Amino acid sequence: MLLSPELTALLYLVAAVCFILALKGLGSPKTARRGNLIGAFGAVLAMVVVFLSTELDNVALILGVIAVGTIIAVPASRMVKMTQMPQLVALFNGVGGGAAALVALLELQHSTTIGAFIAVAFTLLIGSISFSGSVITFLKLQELMPTRPIVFPGQALVIVLLLVVGLASAVIIVLDDAVLVGLGLAGAKTVAAIVALLVGLVLGVLLVLPVGGADVPIVISLLNAGTGLAVAASGLVLSNTLLLVAGTLVGASGSILTREMAKAMGRSVTGTLFGAFRGGSTAGSTAVSDRPVRSSSAEDVAILLGYAQRIIVVPGYGLAVAQAQHTMAELATTLEAKGIEVVFGIHPVAGRMPGHLNVLLAEANVPYEVLAEMDEVNPQFKNADVALVVGANDVVNPAAKTSPGSPIYGMPILDVAAARQVVFLKRSMRPGFAGIENDLLYEPQTTLLFGDAKDSLTKVLTAVKNL
Ligand code: TAP
Repeated sequence: MLLSPELTALLYLVAAVCFILALKGLGSPKTARRGNLIGAFGAVLAMVVVFLSTELDNVALILGVIAVGTIIAVPASRMVKMTQMPQLVALFNGVGGGAAALVALLELQHSTTIGAFIAVAFTLLIGSISFSGSVITFLKLQELMPTRPIVFPGQALVIVLLLVVGLASAVIIVLDDAVLVGLGLAGAKTVAAIVALLVGLVLGVLLVLPVGGADVPIVISLLNAGTGLAVAASGLVLSNTLLLVAGTLVGASGSILTREMAKAMGRSVTGTLFGAFRGGSTAGSTAVSDRPVRSSSAEDVAILLGYAQRIIVVPGYGLAVAQAQHTMAELATTLEAKGIEVVFGIHPVAGRMPGHLNVLLAEANVPYEVLAEMDEVNPQFKNADVALVVGANDVVNPAAKTSPGSPIYGMPILDVAAARQVVFLKRSMRPGFAGIENDLLYEPQTTLLFGDAKDSLTKVLTAVKNL
């Protein structure tokens, strides 16, 4: 061992401070990149300290596994599209939970105190639920399996039975050996631990299958919080303060994010998990009606914009797909140069991950002063001449207010219908993520400009410049 216990503790403290600074940095797009780097530095520091402060067996094997992980993770993170980030986060998060569960299984043999056994049981159950649940969220978001809620008869009963078996296994893990011998269960701890692990794996699948459509991101965040708590518990098992601190930070921030996302979507966390059992559908149909709509040319849209005084741009997932942020930013600057006021209205769940549009617009150097959050921008729509909806749908769909049966019912929306004119830039009449039609597309004040958002914006920009 090269490092004394005192120096080890000090370096762990430095790593923990890095994680806290990273979370703070991630709070704003301006500082997110730096926050990420500080967090990564903290993680590398923590790993190096482990190597220098612990008597490790199988060092070659450990280094080999780190190399394999790096070879998989670096290209995966580099190649993933921005719109696929939630899936990647889900997968990385699940692997963390699974690793914590495996560590707990191995540490069962070395645990002696009741506290350690409780931590082992907790980590086994929660870590394995996080792992398998995250794999299902990944498959759903990647559309490798149906995104709609999947419920089968008796599913709720199976979940309850599995919970009972899981808790019984946890009790066996925690009970004193002498008590187990008295109960005729000598040596049952290892079997109970394996049962807890398997029960957790099946529970993770069964709990996430009924979650559909728009609710999957909330569950990713919830599982993320679960992984954090499992890692914190494995910190107790291994008597490692840094794991405890890092896990608690992930658990706490994941819990806050879950609550905030659920609030932004107008859902409760329990409603998200168990809504499908009560018959509340979270998936829409993708049927599209053949009612007439008013479509227009880029030149006409340019005239509408060029002669407006106030424009509110509502960017959504389609802007990210089309990578149209730079063209959108240039159009906004061109309009502003003509004396037109342009504001961007950002819905908290627009796109496919928290802060998705903020990040994209920051990348295109759209100043923060012109970005307005939902509560701030909603009262402004009634004074706007044009609401320009670029690749957004669910976040402006009035069904969230008017259709109690709709999957997005209750989600606060951007009130674009209050603007004098509404222009939608999209490719077709297909619905958005929640799979439901948007009645606003058929309203008399609405104009549609069909096409890829980047192509359409480029044409509109050229036409605005020529006005
Ligand atoms: P959506 O409701 O998904 O609508 C996206 C729209 O963009 C669609 O109407 C689509 O129509 C259009 N589009 C797609 N590609 C395009 C392209 N290349 N050019 C032009 N238009 C394009 O998006 P939203 O309004 O941003 O709402 C987000 C939804 O995702 C919500 O339901 C939310 O709950 C869910 N969600 C959010 C998150 C987070 S945390 N942000 C994570 C996962 C899911 P066409 O196909 O006709 O072009």
